[in-house]
Amino acid sequence: MSGGKFYLTTPIYYVNDSPHLGHAYTSVACDTLARFKRLDGERVLFLTGTDEHGQKVAKSARDAGVEPQAFCDRVSENFRAMTKLMNISNDQFIRTTEPRHIAASQAIWQAIAKSKSPKGRDNLYLGKYSGWYAVRDEAFYGEDELTKGPDGKFRAPSGAEVEWVEEPSYFFRLSDWQDWLLDHYARHPDFIGPASRRNEVTSFVKGGLTDLSVSRTSFAWGVPVPGDEKHVMYVWLDALTNYLTAVGYPDTAGADFKTFWPADIHVVGKDIVRFHCVYWPAFLAAAGLALPERVFAHGWWTVEGQKMSKSLGNFIAPQQLVDQYGVDAVRYFMLRDLPFGADGDFSHRAVVGRINGDLANDFGNLAQRVLSMIQSYCGGKLPAGAEATTADQRRADGELIGKVAGLRHAVAAEIDKQALHLALERIWEIVAMANRYVDEQAPWKLKKTDPVRLGQVLYVLAETIRHLAILAQPFVPQAAAKLLDQLAVPDDFTHRCFNALEAHPLAAGAQLPKPAGIFPRYVEAAAS
Ligand code: MSP
Repeated sequence: MSGGKFYLTTPIYYVNDSPHLGHAYTSVACDTLARFKRLDGERVLFLTGTDEHGQKVAKSARDAGVEPQAFCDRVSENFRAMTKLMNISNDQFIRTTEPRHIAASQAIWQAIAKSKSPKGRDNLYLGKYSGWYAVRDEAFYGEDELTKGPDGKFRAPSGAEVEWVEEPSYFFRLSDWQDWLLDHYARHPDFIGPASRRNEVTSFVKGGLTDLSVSRTSFAWGVPVPGDEKHVMYVWLDALTNYLTAVGYPDTAGADFKTFWPADIHVVGKDIVRFHCVYWPAFLAAAGLALPERVFAHGWWTVEGQKMSKSLGNFIAPQQLVDQYGVDAVRYFMLRDLPFGADGDFSHRAVVGRINGDLANDFGNLAQRVLSMIQSYCGGKLPAGAEATTADQRRADGELIGKVAGLRHAVAAEIDKQALHLALERIWEIVAMANRYVDEQAPWKLKKTDPVRLGQVLYVLAETIRHLAILAQPFVPQAAAKLLDQLAVPDDFTHRCFNALEAHPLAAGAQLPKPAGIFPRYVEAAAS
C-alpha cells in the first residue's frame, strides 16, 4: 500500500466556462484521493488544468473581441482561482496552449501517423468529413443519435445544438479497434468504473465503431497538424494528450514519464466517458503507449431538482458556496451526500442537514466535549492511558480501541474503490461509537468517583479523535488540521501521516491548547 506512486487527473476544464459546482466536485473528489495517497506514503502526481483550443473557445474569444490567446490567459485564471478556493492540492495546473503541450500533441500525432491498426492498415488517413458536429460538446454525432426539437433544430443527446460540417479531415481508423478495445475491457475488468459505465461503453463499442475525424480545417485555433498546417488537431486528441504532457512526453525515457506513466486513474464526469474509454485507449495503443489503469466516471449534480444552467438562474459558483457554508462543509457535503458515481441533487436543505447533523452534532460535538473535559478536569494536561481495571471497562475500551485501530484499513479499502462516500461512512461510524462511549463512561461522574478511570477514558477518547482527525484530513483538510492542533500534534508530515497513527500516539502529560469549535452550526439568517 505505501511507497508506490499514484498519478491521478481531473478532466481539464473548458477554459471559457465559468467555474461552477460541477467543476468543483470533480476537483474536490480528486483532491481527496490525492491527499489520501500522499498521507498513505505514496508519491503522488495530481494534475488539473484548462482545455483551451477548439471552435468553442475561438468563438468565445471572437465574441469578447480579443485574440484567443489573450482570452485564454484571462479566463484560465478563473479555474486556477477555483482550485485555490476549494483547497485543491494539485501538483500541476496544465494549460493546453503551453509550448510543452503543443510539442506533446504533435508528437503523439506523429507516432499515430506512423502506426498500423490492429488490422494492419494505416491508423491515420486523409479524407473528407461530412456530418454533424456540436460545438458545445466539441463532438461529432451520428444522425441516429440526434433528435429534432420543436424549433426544427437538431440536438445531440447532451442537448447541444449540432451543425452540418463538410471539410477535408484526417481520420483515425477507429473502426479497426473494436475487437482490440473489447478485449482490453474483458481482460482488465477494472479499467472502467463504476460497472454501469463499463457496461454502457462495452455495448457502445459492440454496436460498431466508425472512423473518427481528428482534424479540422474551417478554423485555426488549435494545434497545427505536423506537415499539413492547414489542419488543426481535433480538440479532444489535443486535450486528452495533456495527461502525457504533464509527465514529459515525448521524453518517454525521462524520470517523470518513467515514474508516473501510465496514470493510475483518470476521474471524469459521466458525460465524457466515451472520449476517455474508447478514443483515448485507442490513441495511446496506436502511439505505442501504455494505457491508464482506470477511468472512473462520477455522476452529475442537479440543483434543487433541476439541471444547472445560467438561463434557469440556478447556476452555482463555487465562491458563493464557500462564502455561504465554508470550504470544508462544502467538500464534506459533496463527498458524503451522494455515492461517488451516482447522480445527486444539491439543495440548501440537504447541505444544512449535513452541516448541523454530521459535522456539528456528531463530530464537532465529540471533539468539543472531550477537549473541554480535558481542559476543565485535568487543567488541559493529557491524562495517562493506563489499562482499565474491571472486565467491563476493559471490554468497552477494547471495542473502541480495536475499531479505531482498524479504521485506516477500512477507509483505504473504500478509497481504493473510489467509494468516497463509504470512506466517510467508516469514519463517522467511529464518531458515533465514540459518542456512545462518552455517554456510557460518563466522565463527568468519574471525575467525582474515580479519577484514575477518568484519565483512562479521556486518553482513549483523545486517541480516538486523533485517529479520526488524521483520517479526515483528505476530506476536510482545514478542520482536521485545526483539530490536530488542539491535540498538540506537531504540524509536520511525520506526525500527521497515516503511519503516525501507530507510530506517534499522544504523550501523557502533553499540554493541550484551549479548545475552539471546529464545525460551527449553520444558522439561517433571519428573514428581513
Ligand atoms: N474539456 C473537457 C474535458 C477534457 S479532458 C481531457 C470538458 N470540460 S468541462 O469543463 O465541460 O467539464 C469538466 C468536468 O466537469 C467534466 O468531468 C464534467 O462531467 C464535470 N461537470 C460539469 N458539469 C457537471 C455537473 N453539473 N455535475 C457534476 N459534474 C459536472 O468536458
